[in-house]
Amino acid sequence: MSTEKEFSLTELNKPADWSNLPVMAKKHVPIIEAPSNVKANEPFVVKIKVGGIDGVEHPNTLSHWINWVALYAGERLISKIEFGAELSDGYVVTLNVTLNESTTLRAQEFCNLHGVWEGKPKKINV
Ligand SMILES: [Fe+2]
Repeated sequence: MSTEKEFSLTELNKPADWSNLPVMAKKHVPIIEAPSNVKANEPFVVKIKVGGIDGVEHPNTLSHWINWVALYAGERLISKIEFGAELSDGYVVTLNVTLNESTTLRAQEFCNLHGVWEGKPKKINV
């Protein structure tokens, strides 16, 4: 049983141990799907799904929902997508991305009750 707090509203929430994710992390971390190898300046598809790990989906109600998802190349923002409460389905975002050099993609999301969460980074070789 973990004694560490389940989430922070003031600091970035980032799982430390992916082999033993708490339910809060399964519900909140954004998962990046993208090819590992891409060609320079050729668009490729990046899919981001918030939560749903082991079937643990995040609620989507007027009082508790995922407000936004952001995708970064290293420290540079690629895109930030906002969700309206109740109206999005499954918190899935699909983006066309174009890179001109190798980078690490990072995805973050913000839950109105549980703060900002970041998932596993995804290295992309150009
Ligand atoms: Fe939440």
